[in-house]
Amino acid sequence: MYKKDFGNIPNKDKIISYLEEGYEKNPGKWVLHSRIIGKTAYNIAKEIGLDPDVAFACGALHDIGKMSGAKDAKHFLNGYKILRADSYFFPARIALSHSFQIQNIDSYVGKLNISDTDKEFVENFLTYTTYNDYDLLIQLLDAIIKAEYLGVEKRSQGVLEKHGSNPYFLQRKERIYQLEEYFQNKLKKPIKSYMPRQRWYKFPYSLYRNDHKNLQK
Ligand SMILES: [Fe+2]
Repeated sequence: MYKKDFGNIPNKDKIISYLEEGYEKNPGKWVLHSRIIGKTAYNIAKEIGLDPDVAFACGALHDIGKMSGAKDAKHFLNGYKILRADSYFFPARIALSHSFQIQNIDSYVGKLNISDTDKEFVENFLTYTTYNDYDLLIQLLDAIIKAEYLGVEKRSQGVLEKHGSNPYFLQRKERIYQLEEYFQNKLKKPIKSYMPRQRWYKFPYSLYRNDHKNLQK
């Protein structure tokens, strides 16, 4: 569908087909995480005057680069490429910006396993992009929600354990707290309460039918 100021935005069916394809090619909780971020962004967007369809697409597809099994920096670059190839330019930008609460390539918490040309491209993107509320909302939600709500401290700790520290770690965490305050001030209820309910029989929970107990942990 076409959205003024955002161009081509995938509709719900297209988004679900991306996620289903993603799960088929690279099964993992990242699909659940993606759908939850999408739905939470949708619910929040409705209340703060953003377009819920745009927010849903951006949230649900921010990690779509993991479809190919890409890890670390490759995942955001791959997501950017996949979405641009389908002419979804705005969600593509979010696939890139979601990893950079701090607009500096060295603040990335994983490995920069991309070519020098790609690094230069990311550096330019970070220098010349002014974030809007969609960038910021997905950055925040990604930083507090995994496949369940964790909050800033717990999620940051998990990221630290998985990827190790970097010189920007504390600055990044502070920034996430700022984002939390920024959005919380616009909302009536706590951010957590905008998350979707778990329905085991519905997509994407249905993908994990045999894994219910593990998921609930
Ligand atoms: Fe990501």
